[in-house]
Amino acid sequence: MRNIIEKYFPEMGIDISWYSKKKITPNIPEKDNLDNLDILVKKCKKCNLYKTRNNTVFGEGSHNSDIMIIGEAPGKEEDDSGKPFIGRAGKLLTEFLKSISLDRRSVFITNTVKCRPPENRNPEMTEIKSCSDYLDQQIAFIKPRVLVLLGKIAANRMLGEDKPISELRLKKFFVEKYDIPLIVFYHPAYILRSPLQKKKVWDDLQYLKTIIGSHGS
Ligand code: URA
Ligand code: SF4
Repeated sequence: MRNIIEKYFPEMGIDISWYSKKKITPNIPEKDNLDNLDILVKKCKKCNLYKTRNNTVFGEGSHNSDIMIIGEAPGKEEDDSGKPFIGRAGKLLTEFLKSISLDRRSVFITNTVKCRPPENRNPEMTEIKSCSDYLDQQIAFIKPRVLVLLGKIAANRMLGEDKPISELRLKKFFVEKYDIPLIVFYHPAYILRSPLQKKKVWDDLQYLKTIIGSHGS
């Protein structure tokens, strides 16, 4: 088809500069699409959380990452800055990633809901549902090789499981919708509250490494 257009259209006097320009777009569609999605999120009023937010927190990191990390909801620092996981829990998460030689910029980090719930309460099911399409589209654009769910809210949203984290971690889950393995970690905010559990995170991180390794990188 391309050959026909490029050969015959100019001969017929038809301008195909629009077509040649189109050729370069396949190299950048994912970034484009994610940026467009971010613009939609910034304007979103699909649930009541828009009323109290200062900034939406879309997520950040590599748009081609093998690893996508999904937390719960933005907290105060995240709401103030528009960036995910930059408060105390975020610093711990960054440290955890570093301990397995992962720079946080090389993964994509986001949350189940993109706006901060007032007083850091848990997001409600209606809010999670309203925000669900954005998360699904982020996953579709980034196409990571593994989804890491931090804590109960993310695990519940993605797996439909209401079990304690201790029963969900160190296992690989598949849900039909995504066709990507999902794994569950303790949330770093929980580790801040229960520092004795910190060594369990090491097992979670090693498990992540085996998953990434077993998929060929
Ligand atoms: N906790 C989360 O779940 N997400 C953030 O972005 C920050 C803290
Ligand atoms: Fe929209 Fe999600 Fe924010 Fe609700 S939490 S207003 S659905 S972006």
